[in-house]
Amino acid sequence: MSEAVPQSAQRVRTRFFSGAKQRGERITALTSYDALTAQVFDEAGIDFLLVGDSAGNVVFGHGTTVPVTIEELLPLSRAVAGAVRRAMVVTDLPFGSYEVSPEQAVTSAVRLMKEGGAHAVKLEGGVRSAASIRRIVDAGIPVMGHIGYTPQSEHALGGHVVQGRGAAAEQLLADALAVQEAGAFAVVIEMVPAAVAREVSEALAIPTIGIGAGAGADGQILVWQDFAGLTTGRVPRFVKAYADLRGVLAGAATAYAEEVRSGAFPAAEHSFDDPSRG
Ligand code: KIV
Repeated sequence: MSEAVPQSAQRVRTRFFSGAKQRGERITALTSYDALTAQVFDEAGIDFLLVGDSAGNVVFGHGTTVPVTIEELLPLSRAVAGAVRRAMVVTDLPFGSYEVSPEQAVTSAVRLMKEGGAHAVKLEGGVRSAASIRRIVDAGIPVMGHIGYTPQSEHALGGHVVQGRGAAAEQLLADALAVQEAGAFAVVIEMVPAAVAREVSEALAIPTIGIGAGAGADGQILVWQDFAGLTTGRVPRFVKAYADLRGVLAGAATAYAEEVRSGAFPAAEHSFDDPSRG
């Protein structure tokens, strides 16, 4: 496989994010939950990999991210962190692991760093999460914020609904500024009108990473199963599928099943000889 990232590539650190924003270079991100996709995305030059609690949907098959636990994310985070050379690995604080108090938040973040090998953590919420972001940053852990549509609050938000429209744009900006003020090095901004995301991005010194937030964000992230065309059913409007992995895998599985049934697989070249048996 051809590699976009040379062996000597320097690891992406928080200063990369501020530098990229200053230089006007867009930041690239995908989710990852296992060693092999992490390796592929890292070698392709993706800047950071998110071990997202979207694992609830795309790995564990839940309808939401709400049931996901730290114990479930830790092994995924270790697998991704162990596979990358350059990309920063950001791991989500799942629902229930940080809302009780800033102390709970820092305890959970420490686990993701120590046991999960993460290089940074992400948590949802603007003004409401600012005290926890500050406490985690003070403990020496880089924090990425997440505002706009926050999937862990799906039930409170009334479903998968665009945020920041009309008067709510002011609250979105207040959330973004609170996250920045609390010490976050970047902030994910999800499902908000493109013009609002652009204004927020221009108002912040730290980079915004958009998902369903238009082209004005300082970077973009997608869930890898969405971008690779593996996800089935209704895919959000903001997703662009860059491949048809579902079609490729289905074709391969069908061919395999046919060859096993017909006896065409395994052939001689997939079998071992025993020289003592003439
Ligand atoms: O968990 C996740 O995948 C996320 C992205 C949608 C940003 O938070």
